[in-house]
Amino acid sequence: MLRGNRVKLGPIKREYIDSFLRWFNDPEITQYLARYRPMTRMAEEEWMENLREREDTIRFSITISNEDGSEILIGNCGIHNINWKNRVGEIGITIGEKAYQNRGYGTEAIELLLEYSFNTVNLNRIELCVYDYNIRAIKSYIKVGFIEEGRKRQFMWNKGKYHDEIMMSILAEEWRNKKNV
Ligand SMILES: CC(C)(COP(=O)(O)OP(=O)(O)OC[C@H]1O[C@@H](n2cnc3c(N)ncnc32)[C@H](O)[C@@H]1OP(=O)(O)O)[C@@H](O)C(=O)NCCC(=O)NCCS
Repeated sequence: MLRGNRVKLGPIKREYIDSFLRWFNDPEITQYLARYRPMTRMAEEEWMENLREREDTIRFSITISNEDGSEILIGNCGIHNINWKNRVGEIGITIGEKAYQNRGYGTEAIELLLEYSFNTVNLNRIELCVYDYNIRAIKSYIKVGFIEEGRKRQFMWNKGKYHDEIMMSILAEEWRNKKNV
């Protein structure tokens, strides 16, 4: 369990499946992700089952504590496509509970994920892709230290228009300099 001031990154539990299905079948969420087909319970169960075997993926749930001490699941995140030789990984995040978006939880979760990626997993480079209309995500990636490396022009078709995909990354040394550690 990785603990921030307000957010915790923990294991993915089977009981989360209903929330995941709700989030990843919601166009308001999926417009920001590569996913566009309906997600079935069968596929989601299979994904969860395979997670244990995957050497190139580390997934976390994102939870916060309720006033009565109970945990509220608000999203998930993880590192995928890990290349252990080059020490590169790609991160992804979804705050799926819309009532908990725009409250700083996403940025805090990304900070925790970066600290884990660099200090525990010993990766050297973290990269991600984001669509140009996802201003909220871009803002929070810049805040934690990601920089834009390039754009895939007209990579994404959304709401009747093509959009660029922005490639961003942060290196371990940049993260350490920023954190002064
Ligand atoms: C992207 C995401 C992880 C960000 O997490 P979050 O908890 O909602 O966002 P935060 O509150 O940490 O920060 C968002 C920032 O964007 C700003 N913002 C929010 N909506 C905005 C908008 N429409 N225009 C401009 N800025 C916006 C907020 O003010 C905040 O900046 P600030 O801290 O300087 O005030 C989350 O919104 C999410 O999961 N969205 C849906 C899926 C997704 O986009 N995943 C990422 C795919 S690359």
